[in-house]
Amino acid sequence: MKDAIRDNFDESPNAYDEYERRTGRFEALADRLYDELDRRTSRIGALLDAGAGSGVSTAVFDERGAAPIAFDLSGRMLRECPGTIAPRVQGDFDELPFVGEAFDAVVFTASLFLTPDPARAAREARRVLRPGGGVGAVAPLGWTTLDGDDVFAPLARDSRSPTGADDVADALDANFGVESGEWAFRTTAEDLRAFHAVPAMAARLYPRLDPDERLGRARELLSDVEGPLEQRWRWFVGV
Ligand SMILES: C[S@@+](CC[C@H](N)C(=O)[O-])C[C@H]1O[C@@H](n2cnc3c(N)ncnc32)[C@H](O)[C@@H]1O
Repeated sequence: MKDAIRDNFDESPNAYDEYERRTGRFEALADRLYDELDRRTSRIGALLDAGAGSGVSTAVFDERGAAPIAFDLSGRMLRECPGTIAPRVQGDFDELPFVGEAFDAVVFTASLFLTPDPARAAREARRVLRPGGGVGAVAPLGWTTLDGDDVFAPLARDSRSPTGADDVADALDANFGVESGEWAFRTTAEDLRAFHAVPAMAARLYPRLDPDERLGRARELLSDVEGPLEQRWRWFVGV
């Protein structure tokens, strides 16, 4: 499972960054999540960006005054992260290569739901956090019409990650005192298609197909969807 996740993201840096240039979605998620964390914790210095990808979230945390480490399973994603803003470490956030109480914050911006066992990653986050430190996470709730109808319902296809927002909630609740809320971003059918032009995102629709075939099938599946739409996320902060 982990190999598949890493391989999917290793295929994804170009399309991922194109989607981000188009929407700014991951930057907005990291920025809002940092606000929620900052409100509930003491000073944020050392911050582990767990699932940093190509460094969109890392750049936000650096800009906000934290001292982030970009940590990710995918070497290809991590290579895109500007080394000038943060040290980069490749690894699995289920087994963190850091001593206990090393960080003021551990932040999973759109990453914790990608591991098959988020409870293990949550325990690791607890271990490396200093007393008074906090964990932040965002997990997807899906794409809907403005009336709240699931875009995928009429398409005979689920959009599936290894785990979902409820699993992330359970994992964090077992290790932290958690507060949570929802964000909805107004978006378009074109953005939905651009999101699923990222091989790692199209893998949520067609996990068993190779990248080229998977992207073709996703394009076909989503070709008739019309907007406007909303993309919904749940955020969590635990202390
Ligand atoms: C949707 S991207 C988010 C990237 C980044 N936080 C951002 O804001 O753009 C999710 C990232 O989580 C990473 N990831 C998934 N499972 C992981 C794991 N077990 N350990 C470390 N990174 C992981 C993926 O490789 C991917 O780069």
